[in-house]
Amino acid sequence: MTPSGGLPQHIAIVMDGNGRWATKRFLPRLAGHRQGMESLRRCIRACLERQVGVLTVFAFSSENWNRPADEVSGLMELLVTALAKEVPQLLKDGVRLHFVGDRAGLSDKVCTGLDQAELATAANSKLILNVCFNYGGRWDIAQAAARLAAQGQPITEMALHQAMAMAHVPDPDLIIRTGGELRLSNFLLWQAAYAELFFSDKLWPDFDEAELDRAISEFNRRERRYGQTSDQVVSPGPGQKAA
Ligand code: FPP
Repeated sequence: MTPSGGLPQHIAIVMDGNGRWATKRFLPRLAGHRQGMESLRRCIRACLERQVGVLTVFAFSSENWNRPADEVSGLMELLVTALAKEVPQLLKDGVRLHFVGDRAGLSDKVCTGLDQAELATAANSKLILNVCFNYGGRWDIAQAAARLAAQGQPITEMALHQAMAMAHVPDPDLIIRTGGELRLSNFLLWQAAYAELFFSDKLWPDFDEAELDRAISEFNRRERRYGQTSDQVVSPGPGQKAA
């Protein structure tokens, strides 16, 4: 967890607004997702330059299966194409890829692509990029609880935390949602407990470095109290850490 005044070490993003970006231009929704991919590439670069340690993006939710079939298959295809195209550069840039979500329901072709990309970038550590795909916060909590129950383990906060699909990274410091909607939409429900939230009116394809910096500046103005009082955070007592 990052205390007030620092760079957020873990930024998570709900990349919303691709469809509206395309519709405004009389283009098919998939053109918006393709432009969203460009925006994601720019955002990864910006995070590398700013030395953010972890970037987590919501690329396909458990609920996105309810979209028109051609949009769903288009998103699957976009993912496979993007992996083939982007992994060599991500590898050079020191990015480690993790895919977070339910592999059941994804085709063998998609799963193989995800496995290969994770394996190829496994030795990297400059930026951890979590791509949440076929992911839902409720799915994650339920699968973690089911796993503990199957092992006969007591369900405690710590045990649940460790059984979750995001256990390999600290909780997000800053969650950004683009596209003007003010909700989490089943994203990182457990991990969002103490995240600062930033809502941007920009549609995801228009999200740029300046908007990222605006989110980071706003984050820097927030006081993160983690249940303490403001006085405790500003002047911690003996033996206490401001956090
Ligand atoms: C939400 O916008 C966006 C998505 C469901 C897909 C996000 C995908 C990308 C940003 C491209 C990168 C893709 C991969 C596979 C890594 P929306 O379609 O709900 O937009 P709307 O609210 O304007 O309709």
